[in-house]
Amino acid sequence: MSAEPLEIYLTEQDLDRSLREDVRTGLTADPKWLPPKWFYDARGSELFEEITRLPEYYPTRAERSVLAERAADIAELTGAKTLIELGSGSSEKTRLLLDAFTRHGGLGSFVPLDVSVSALRRSTARIAADHPGLRVRGIVGDFTRHLDRLPPGGRRLVVFLGGTIGNLLPDERAGFLAAMRGALEEGDWLLVGTDLVKDPSVLVPAYDDAAGVTAEFNRNVLRVVNRKLGADFVPEAFTHVALWDADQEWIEMRLRARRPMRVRVLDLDVAFAEGEELRTEISAKFRPERITAELAAAGFTTERSWTDPDGLFGVTLGRAT
Ligand code: SAH
Ligand code: TRP
Repeated sequence: MSAEPLEIYLTEQDLDRSLREDVRTGLTADPKWLPPKWFYDARGSELFEEITRLPEYYPTRAERSVLAERAADIAELTGAKTLIELGSGSSEKTRLLLDAFTRHGGLGSFVPLDVSVSALRRSTARIAADHPGLRVRGIVGDFTRHLDRLPPGGRRLVVFLGGTIGNLLPDERAGFLAAMRGALEEGDWLLVGTDLVKDPSVLVPAYDDAAGVTAEFNRNVLRVVNRKLGADFVPEAFTHVALWDADQEWIEMRLRARRPMRVRVLDLDVAFAEGEELRTEISAKFRPERITAELAAAGFTTERSWTDPDGLFGVTLGRAT
């Protein structure tokens, strides 16, 4: 079966409107910030794929090893009819689950949801071609806004991989999990990948690689704002910064102005002092008990949790109760 046409919950117009709002709010705040979903235009999605192959970026490999080991158990335990993936990107690791479900039987549809149209087009075409008989319906949507519109019924498994849940602030994360529970019915399943707390000497290089791909990815948000809103950021005039916040247990990504600058965007004239930092993303790292506690607070019982052999990355299977 070929993939169905993408279902659009977010039109170009919606995206344009919310980018304008985010830019106005974030660039007039102190400290300045921009939300991470704007990294992922076509180039941003490609750069992220490049990050996943970097020697320093262990999360993708570690999560893949857990899924390779446990995919058959997950298919067996959940017996899902519908697999929904949030922030699916290339759905590369998800293919391990889809293969296991195909061997197990019973999975009827795969529903990836992402803000990136280009990533969804590519992944849905490939997956539909490799899984004849599986209904593949991609959704262009925002997982912080559109959970109430997920396809209803029939034993669902929602997967949220890549540690993307850690890119939400703690309050947003609690809101996300509560909305997720609200969208599911008792007995439905949630599989979440979370990067684990570890030594900063391992964490920091994963977000500041020697080849400079992550730096380019971080600066991509400025290119997106330039292209979509006609701003005049000079991306090369910003240095990529990744630092470990030991109190919050998260990595924080920033862009630091190398010199004083003024940027014209919308009707704003935004001044940057030399050394001033624009916050672009956090990537929270977890301890296993915190994952279980946060899931429980939202109404999910942890049925299984696994890590890779080196204990770098966690994958937790919760059930709506
Ligand atoms: N799941 C993949 C990709 C992770 S990168 C992996 O594990 O490798 C994060 C993905 O989430 C990107 O594809 C990005 O486009 C998407 N994304 C980021 N913010 C989003 C949001 N608010 N709503 C929907 N998708 C989002
Ligand atoms: N979800 C990924 C993570 O937190 C996203 C990511 C990886 C990322 N590298 C990045 C986001 C660099 C911004 C900058 O690991």
